[in-house]
Amino acid sequence: MTRTCERRELRRAATVGRVLALGAGRLAAAGVAEPRLDAELLLADQLSEERLALYREPGRLLPPAARRRFNALLRRRALGEPLQYLRGRVEFFGLECDIRRGALIPRPDTELLVELAIDRLRAAQRGVDHPVRFADVGTGSGCIAMGIASAVETAVGAALDCSARALVVARRNFDRHGLADRMMVRRGDLCEPLRRESWRADLIAANLPYIPTGVIETLESQIRDHEPRLALDGGADGLDLIRRLVQTAADSLLPGGWLLLEVGIGQADRVAALARHAGWRVEAIERDLSGIDRVVVLSRKGNGE
Ligand SMILES: C[S@@+](CC[C@H](N)C(=O)[O-])C[C@H]1O[C@@H](n2cnc3c(N)ncnc32)[C@H](O)[C@@H]1O
Repeated sequence: MTRTCERRELRRAATVGRVLALGAGRLAAAGVAEPRLDAELLLADQLSEERLALYREPGRLLPPAARRRFNALLRRRALGEPLQYLRGRVEFFGLECDIRRGALIPRPDTELLVELAIDRLRAAQRGVDHPVRFADVGTGSGCIAMGIASAVETAVGAALDCSARALVVARRNFDRHGLADRMMVRRGDLCEPLRRESWRADLIAANLPYIPTGVIETLESQIRDHEPRLALDGGADGLDLIRRLVQTAADSLLPGGWLLLEVGIGQADRVAALARHAGWRVEAIERDLSGIDRVVVLSRKGNGE
């Protein structure tokens, strides 16, 4: 190939349209489920523009630094790293949520828990002139607390997790959405930080790990090898942490308070049974958009009944 041809080839290769096509091809070859979309999002991030803006001038040259960054991200994506960690953000409940390794990637299914918590806290707020209080146990990225506190502007909350790495992400999200002055962030086991400070909530929401240990090895590599095991592993039957929370959370609830638990497929009836046994009233089992029993709503017997 002559030098002129080489230069022409290089210029051709470095246009946005061509780099995008090559990138999508590389991800497709690696078996990524949505190669074109992922390549578009990663490339658009490098240019600080919207995904569809890439198609406005596909013939423009891509700056070399942006191309290098894009190639590095493609390599990681092709090896199975989740897109959300590579982009450092994900949308949850209509809010932009920072996300990093060390915190579980928020799932759309969890938005149901947020909606149910908001409805109850709004109702509770109507009856009192002090701020209602909620706790998010196993807060991870803080997505649940962020959704609740953004919608119930009078509420104050506690975000709890045993993972220091997750709490760094949660704090970033509270800062970013202007919620930090209404959120108390504490590290510890389940509700233990609340008991230490004699802090009680009107509502406790929890999306704790609920995958049985034996199932974790069967999960797709993108989850198994990249998301924190501490956020996934619920012990032999998946219910170790939920069971412990059901047995201890009442101490951290105000009279008439609620405990809302996200559960895995096929777990809702078992969770309801163990909650009844521990003295809770099962108010409802709510289905997610896929028709799966996803949230068990509990209240304390004898509280205002
Ligand atoms: C399934 S993730 C949920 C994260 C986030 N709330 C969400 O919905 O995306 C469970 C979280 O519980 C935390 N966790 C696990 N065991 C815990 C414990 N004993 N006490 C407090 N948090 C715990 C994990 O670190 C993880 O952040």
